[in-house]
Amino acid sequence: MAAQMNICVLGGTGFVGTALVNRLSDAGHWVRVPTRHPDRHQALQVLPTVRLIRADVHDRRDLDRLVEGMDAVVNLVGILNEHGGNTFQRAHVQLTAKLIDALKAGRVRRLLHMSSLGADPHGPSRYLRSKAEAEALVHAASAPVDFTIFRPSVIFGPDDSLTNRFAGLLRLSHGWLPLARAQARFAPVYVGDVTAAFAHALSTRSTIGQTYELGGPQIMTLEQLVRTTAAVAGLPCHLFGLPDPLARLQGVILGCLPGKPFTLDNFRSLMRDSVCAEDGFERLGLARHALLELLPTYLAPPRTAGSQPAQS
Ligand SMILES: NC(=O)c1ccc[n+]([C@@H]2O[C@H](COP(=O)([O-])OP(=O)(O)OC[C@H]3O[C@@H](n4cnc5c(N)ncnc54)[C@H](OP(=O)(O)O)[C@@H]3O)[C@@H](O)[C@H]2O)c1
Repeated sequence: MAAQMNICVLGGTGFVGTALVNRLSDAGHWVRVPTRHPDRHQALQVLPTVRLIRADVHDRRDLDRLVEGMDAVVNLVGILNEHGGNTFQRAHVQLTAKLIDALKAGRVRRLLHMSSLGADPHGPSRYLRSKAEAEALVHAASAPVDFTIFRPSVIFGPDDSLTNRFAGLLRLSHGWLPLARAQARFAPVYVGDVTAAFAHALSTRSTIGQTYELGGPQIMTLEQLVRTTAAVAGLPCHLFGLPDPLARLQGVILGCLPGKPFTLDNFRSLMRDSVCAEDGFERLGLARHALLELLPTYLAPPRTAGSQPAQS
């Protein structure tokens, strides 16, 4: 086992964060996880080496306290949609700037930063542009801060809001689903592989200063992803691709609904394929798992007495 470290995980209560915190705890590291709502994350609270701390990561004094004495900090905070004052600028850019200041003040050198595949200052969406802006801040901090940046494609796993969301929508709509950008391409990457990359970087100095694109071994269109989800979950599937003008309108309308199931900015992110230009896992010397291999482990319909196992 790598030496025991003190690690603070911002965004440690989310989908990727929960998986990473579990992995780090299993490896014996001491993990500090700030949250606005400790009562909602009891499952993390019971892990023996994890401390859930009520804190506002946007408050500089809270941040200073959180990073104090840490060997490394992981920043996973991110949003897909803006809600009121929780904007991309605030969650991705301003928080990263504050975190870098806190790391410098606290003399904490190691930072693992979560970005996104397609992050680009000239990208089509505010999401992708803000992710690029945050990356630029991390690069600019490189003298005192030993950073590693990760850029994943869409991430899947038992608690994801990707395959589970599509399965839920297909169930609700009896399989009828209008799809924006149905031919947009992705390299769905398993959450366990993403957290393995983060854990590996913590103990491998050659990852300092590096950016890793993380994609799974299968490239699929959004339509193939939804059809695969439906097939594995045993759900009906009648997709119809929306032409772009209608898809934009869908983003505008659904973006006004509570919870914003789809927004114009989401539509714009889909204008860019989310596939890797390089294999970050190969550079890290790590294996990766295919969607088709793992989806049936958490999405397959429960077998009823007397039913036959699905044939592949
Ligand atoms: N999931 C994917 O497919 C995917 C793909 C590419 C990149 N990423 C990036 O990976 C990171 C983690 O994604 P995820 O899927 O795990 O997201 P998630 O489940 O939505 O979790 C996001 C985390 O950020 C925290 N957060 C959000 N807004 C915050 C705010 N204003 N102040 C404090 N904390 C805030 C959340 O805390 P609360 O629980 O308190 O809200 C949560 O811990 C993000 O940076 C995301 O952009 C994800």
